[in-house]
Amino acid sequence: MPPSQATGRWTGARHGLPTAYGPAALIVLGLGVMIGAGIFSVAGRQAATMAGPGVILSFMIAGITSLLVAFCFAELSSAMPASGSAYTFTYVIFGEVWAWIVGWALVMELLLATAVVARVWSLYAAQMLGDLGVRLPEAIAGVVGQGTGFDLFTLLILLLLTGVVALGARVGLRALWIIVVAKLVAVGAVIVVGALHFDRRNLAAIPVPAAPAKEAADTLHSPLLGILFGQTGAFGWFGIFAASAAITFAYIGFDVVATAAEEAEDAPRSIPKGIIRGLVITTVIYIAVGVVMVGMTPYDRIDTDAPLANAFREAGEGFMVHVINIGAVLGLTTVILVLLVGLTRVMFSMARDGLIPRPLAKINRSYHSPTRVTLLIGVLAIVLAEFVPVLTLEPLVVIGTLFVFVAVAYGVIRMRRTMPDLPRGFRVPLSPGVPIASIVASLWLMVNLQLVTWLYFIVWMAVGVLVYLVYGRRNSVLAGMLQSLPEPVPPFVRRPGGSVSGLTPGYGPEHGAGPGPGAGPRYGSGRRPVDPGDTGGPSPRGRHRR
Ligand code: ALA
Repeated sequence: MPPSQATGRWTGARHGLPTAYGPAALIVLGLGVMIGAGIFSVAGRQAATMAGPGVILSFMIAGITSLLVAFCFAELSSAMPASGSAYTFTYVIFGEVWAWIVGWALVMELLLATAVVARVWSLYAAQMLGDLGVRLPEAIAGVVGQGTGFDLFTLLILLLLTGVVALGARVGLRALWIIVVAKLVAVGAVIVVGALHFDRRNLAAIPVPAAPAKEAADTLHSPLLGILFGQTGAFGWFGIFAASAAITFAYIGFDVVATAAEEAEDAPRSIPKGIIRGLVITTVIYIAVGVVMVGMTPYDRIDTDAPLANAFREAGEGFMVHVINIGAVLGLTTVILVLLVGLTRVMFSMARDGLIPRPLAKINRSYHSPTRVTLLIGVLAIVLAEFVPVLTLEPLVVIGTLFVFVAVAYGVIRMRRTMPDLPRGFRVPLSPGVPIASIVASLWLMVNLQLVTWLYFIVWMAVGVLVYLVYGRRNSVLAGMLQSLPEPVPPFVRRPGGSVSGLTPGYGPEHGAGPGPGAGPRYGSGRRPVDPGDTGGPSPRGRHRR
């Protein structure tokens, strides 16, 4: 796919979503989706069972890896500000088959993460009501806050947020601002009040590598790296790295910001800033919370279900328990919301390209949002959350994410070679050093995931390839289109009001709005146009610059 096709937003083509996010909103979006189950649940479990106080290092390792990859996302999204994020980047750089594979991994990442976080939301909501002394009727009490089996709260939160997303980004955005601020206040209180109870001796108690826990003793539940090196125990460096891989869950979301590119003001500049600033703020917050968490409680006494709330309960800060419960419920709400928005945009892009049924890319005229695909995602998330024990599948979210990270980082290297003159609003510093470091770091975290996670992932990807062969390959809009594009090279036009209209070489509106929603006439037949980004030739007009 030529970049001009992917970035039709700037050409007046393809773009079907209204502008919704300014620069600050993009940071809020990042904070909204990142700070959630990772810090309120996963981190405590990893500290108690895998890394001890070394969990602070785990946060740093996962944070640095994410930051390296974030630079790569920033460059690609500044060059291709389209809603499909990594899916679209891969389409442009590697072609349709790899785009599908990455898109399929993204769907797994975002859908499963939505289901996982919805379950954790229910656990926290039930805990919050219990701590506030709210007694639920007997019939309801048995079906809320459940780790497995039918859960009413999980169902309700997914129904509610699917509705919000389906009604359009602006409705969600207003709520997002308020909730993210409340979440930050709660996390800030954890850091400040927790610092008052900090005991340096808790950090000094570095646990030595231990024999593996019983359930982790079998090969299937050992990290791949541990199997290769014959070391499968918790704690020590192996434990710290295994915890880093698990804690990557906490950073998931900076990549989701890129999916908002089609709806962002001045996307080539605002998206890179939004991704990097959001991630830096989150990393600092996580490290601070990690320090407080292991500084307040000896690692072997950290509660694996409610690590933060319990630490404050033991410290006699009963009020903070409520602050944390409420902060978690609010925080997890925005995580689910933004994950749903991100997944909607990715699947919308895939539908627009014909790789999944095209009617899913229809934009609702009243709400200006892809309602159909949103509702489908809501249903899938509910089925997954209710019928699959998703709380054991967090690592699957992580492996899918890291796989996408590798593809994106390699994409930067490849694109610098094949499309050197494509205008970029942001360039990765020290390339190809940073992209290579991103790939190595992501692969390193991947091999620190359990063998069973790898096996599930391979099965999921194999199913994806099958779906592509049976459906996507036959119905791809772009594959057919690129063989028969028209020739004309119309002038570059800037519309009054600042939006760029039309008219990158060979892709003007007269050729149709591409395969996206609101498309005009379809591409006609003719020769494939010369696209500088596509050929590596010079860019005549710097068309993506604004
Ligand atoms: N990073 C998000 C969370 O921790 C997915 O909940």
